Formats: sequence, structure tokens, C-alpha cells
Amino acid sequence: MEQYVIKGGNPLVGEVEIGGAKNAALAILSAAVMTDETVTIDNLPNVRDINVLLDAIREIGAKVDRVGEHTVKINGSFIQNLTVDNEFIRKIRASYYLMGALLGKYKRAEVALPGGCNIGSRPIDLHMKGFRALGATVDIEHGMFLASAEKLQGTHIYLDKVSVGATINIMMAASMAEGKTIIENAAKEPHVVDVANFLNSMGANIRGAGTDVIRIVGVEKLHKTEYSVIPDQIEAGTFMYAAAATKGDIMLKNVIPKHLEATTAKLLEIGCEVEEFDDAVRVVASKPLHHTQVTTLPYPGFPTDMQPQMAVVLGIASGTSTITESIFENRFKYVDELTRMGANIKVESNIAIINGVERYTGARVNAPDLRAGAALVIAGLAAEGITVVDDIYYIERGYENFEGKLAALGAVIEKVSSEKEIKKFTLKVS
Ligand code: EPZ
Repeated sequence: MEQYVIKGGNPLVGEVEIGGAKNAALAILSAAVMTDETVTIDNLPNVRDINVLLDAIREIGAKVDRVGEHTVKINGSFIQNLTVDNEFIRKIRASYYLMGALLGKYKRAEVALPGGCNIGSRPIDLHMKGFRALGATVDIEHGMFLASAEKLQGTHIYLDKVSVGATINIMMAASMAEGKTIIENAAKEPHVVDVANFLNSMGANIRGAGTDVIRIVGVEKLHKTEYSVIPDQIEAGTFMYAAAATKGDIMLKNVIPKHLEATTAKLLEIGCEVEEFDDAVRVVASKPLHHTQVTTLPYPGFPTDMQPQMAVVLGIASGTSTITESIFENRFKYVDELTRMGANIKVESNIAIINGVERYTGARVNAPDLRAGAALVIAGLAAEGITVVDDIYYIERGYENFEGKLAALGAVIEKVSSEKEIKKFTLKVS
């Protein structure tokens, strides 16, 4: 088991390059098997969830060539096995994208039910509803999600709840259905648009992605393409909030400022300066931070994936802030850990009431999930003394070289794997 060990107190200063969006890339890699021609995908983040999905794609018979750290070539013409199941794929949520991709192309798929971060009950009823509406028979048996159809027929689907996963999955299957599909109350997240752009570059006919009505006219075949994944708005947001918490000054390169609007708006509200460039954003936190109210909402609202990082910043801002989590019901599990670092946060139902404290103090804490883990690292960077973050496995699911990028900004952080190394670090820095 590896840990991050951090000596807090240094403002983060300098430039950081943001990688490709994990959640867009997971869907795009799945969609890549929908053609028999070779697809090249660039700007992939080199993180665990991506590598697990690539292994699963390889296991069903597709040819996967890692031609560079961030580039892969996939050829789906060799697929013989429509059953996706291994101990690793069960751990990632995005395994469900192979359902839409395989069902669309082969009209059949069997995929182990998804795991992912434990941030609340994560049903897939809307995915099932969409596949059924397209004419598929859908079942769950022995932990497997089974879907099959003689043919998929375009249809009209209303999503009862805005769901990124269901929108993308239905969009993929409908791309190879007969006739026209309309998805209403669709998710508008940048990665929904990115997946639509990717599919269109393969010859799909998808219009309206980025609005709440998506129209898809099915095509018989998709073809080869070369595509670059959009920058990761959550990785970017995490560094922006790390700048705020440490009173730093960071220039983030390779971002799309428009995708960061909600994240940026909250930083401005609490007293940071944010300067936007074409593909960069600079965050300067030179003034005292103050409280605000935040509610997580589907895009363009404040992202649930930035909620723990925001809480860490508000925990050391003056006054009382509230965060209402409206997407996932179990996303405050980090609060107990942050309390161990001196935070004063009370959770009532889906609202965290945060009374800002002067500073955090270093402690030993556990990363309960991906984003909360990153948030605890930010707390450690801002804290007085030494923080050890356990279970960084979660963080590595979604952040590439997190410790390296932070260290390049002046953070004192190391990845270690034993108590001896923790002691060594402590002696070195004190
Ligand atoms: C995606 O999860 C992301 N995961 C999550 O990223 C992110 O938190 C979430 O979208 C919201 O933005 C991936 O892209 C792999 P949803 P997803 O379907 O698609 C309910 C991260 O840290 N719902 O948009 O699973 C659901 O319970 C993570 O990178 C249903 O009720 O989320 C939730 O309340 C973790 N039925 C809401 O919709 C369904 O069939 C939104 O979930 C599907 C969802």
C-alpha cells in the first residue's frame, strides 16, 4: 500500500500542464471499438482507470497499441468475445460504456456490473431504460449486465434524471441503431460533447450534444479517425483549488476556460483572482479567503467532482459556508478525515456546514475515494506539519503523476510505501 507524505505550508507557485479528461477518455476508448478500422486517440491521461479499461478492451480481442504515454491505437475488428469481466473491470464505473458500444455494434453485450468510487448508490436503471427503448432485452444476472437485440430501433427517450453515463451510453448504442433517436433531459457535460464529437468523427450523426436534447440518426458503419481528448476540467479545478488553499499562484496550461466557469466563479467569490487566456488559466490567492454557499448540480452547475476540494478551501476561509451535495448522497465521507486535521464541519443530510478555521494541522488520514483523496492532499499541502494520506490507490485512478506535478509547483510531497520511508521523510524535512 502506498501513501503520500506531505509537509505542508508552501504556497504552490509555477506552471502545471493539465492532462486529458479521464471521464471523456473512458467513454471514447469504449466507443473506439465500434468500428473495424483503426482509431488513434491522443491526449489520454495515463491513470489507472484508463489502463484497466484498455486491458478489458484487449481481453475481448481488440488490438490495443500504446504508441506513446498518451496515445493509443485501437482496432476493434478482432473482437470475438462480447463478455467483459475481470476482477479489475468490476472496480471501475466506466466499464458500463462497453455495454453501449458493444450493443450498438454487435447487438449484444455482457458486462460485469460496474463498481467505481463509493460515493452513493449508483443505479444504472436509466441506462437500462434507454437500451430497452431502443429495442434491446436487458437483464442483470449473476452480477452481469446482459443486453441483446435482433436490431436496435431509433426512439424517443426522456431521462428522468440528468445522467452523464446514461446519456453517453444511449448515444453510443443509438449511433448504430436504425433511424432517429431523441434523448431528452440529456447531460450537457463537456465530455458528453467530446464523445459526440469523437463519434461524429467516426461517421456518426449526432446533433445537439451540449444541450439537453440530443438527436442521433443511426448509421450502419463507423470508420477510422484520429482524435484528441479534451483537457480534464476536474484535474484543472483540483490544481486551481490547491492554489487557493496554499495561497499560491499557479498558471494552468492546456485547459478550456469555458469548462471551468463554475469552478472559477466560486474562486472569485471567495477572494481569489483568476485570469483567463485562450487555453490557460492563472489563479492567484494573495488575499484572505471568505465564506460562500455552493450547491453541486449537473453542468454547467458546480461539479460534484469538485465538491470535496471546495470544502477543503472553505474549511480555512473566514466565516460559515455551506455545501449542498445534490448529485450523490454519500460524498461527505472525507469530513471525518478533515476533522482530524482540525476542520470544523458538520454534515446534516446532504448539507455540509463549514465553519472556517485558521489553519489545518497535519494528521494521518485515509483517502475515501478519488476526489476526496485529492482534496485531502490539498488539505495536507495547506496544513502545518506533516500529513500522511493512505489509500492513494484511489487518487491514482484519476490523477496522473499527482505528486510530481505538485512537487514541480513547490510542494513538499513524496509517494512512499512503508512506515520506514515515512519516518525518513519526516526526518529529512524537519
Ligand atoms: C459520471 O458518473 C462520472 N464518472 C463521475 O465521476 C461524476 O461524479 C458523475 O458523472 C457526475 O458528473 C464517469 O464518467 C466514469 P451520473 P456517472 O450518471 O455517469 C443518478 C469522478 O470522480 N443515476 O451522471 O455514474 C445517479 O445516482 C467520478 O471522476 C440514476 O439514478 O454519474 C446520480 O445521482 C466519480 N440512474 C445522478 O444520476 C442511472 O441509471 C448522476 O449520475 C444513472 C444515474
